[in-house]
Amino acid sequence: MMISTSFLFSFTTFFLLIFSSSHGLYTQNIIQETCKKSAESSPNINYKFCVASLESDNRSRSANLHKLGLISMDLLRHNMTSTRREIKKLLRNKKLENFVKGCLKDCLELYSDAIPTLKEVKREYKEKNYRDANVKVSSIMEAPTTCEDGFQEKQGTISPLTNNNNNVFQLAALTLSIINMNMHLQ
Ligand SMILES: *[C@@H]1O[C@H](CO)[C@@H](O)[C@H](O)[C@H]1NC(C)=O
Ligand SMILES: *[C@@H]1O[C@H](CO)[C@@H](O)[C@H](O)[C@H]1NC(C)=O
Repeated sequence: MMISTSFLFSFTTFFLLIFSSSHGLYTQNIIQETCKKSAESSPNINYKFCVASLESDNRSRSANLHKLGLISMDLLRHNMTSTRREIKKLLRNKKLENFVKGCLKDCLELYSDAIPTLKEVKREYKEKNYRDANVKVSSIMEAPTTCEDGFQEKQGTISPLTNNNNNVFQLAALTLSIINMNMHLQ
């Protein structure tokens, strides 16, 4: 009796271990697989950036490809809203050079337009309307590049938003890539 109970116990433990590790393996694979495909299909996506970004959200542990797209949109939204907050903070500086002030105001407008657009993208994506979602994310990708380019128009100006713009650009590129993968599976 003693023996069979402990046998049963270890037998169950054994299966639980197998199940949980294969489950973990599977979900780790979907992140890695998605990032590998994204990095291969787009020069704008860095594999390590992709894995680190998706893994930073604990929901991706049990996600499928469609869910990963929603996670990537949430990461993008956080990044865009914090960039917008950063721009507003920078604009409070009274000693700003006029040129830089103008650039920051343009950036604020670009991000203020892009944030509600992402809301529409999320809705369309949920409705599996991948074509419209694709077009809108592509337009969102122009916000960080146009913002960053503005600062380059006057020599010697250093953009205070390079890091933010790079992150937003890459997350938008990743979102676009995941939308396209879903579209091709349709
Ligand atoms: C923006 O995205 C990058 C890459 O995922 C991340 O490292 C950073 O913490 C994010 N910032 C915010 C404020 O969400
Ligand atoms: C994910 O993390 C949040 C807090 O960061 C926590 O509230 C939630 O329970 C976690 N979910 C899972 C599935 O681990």
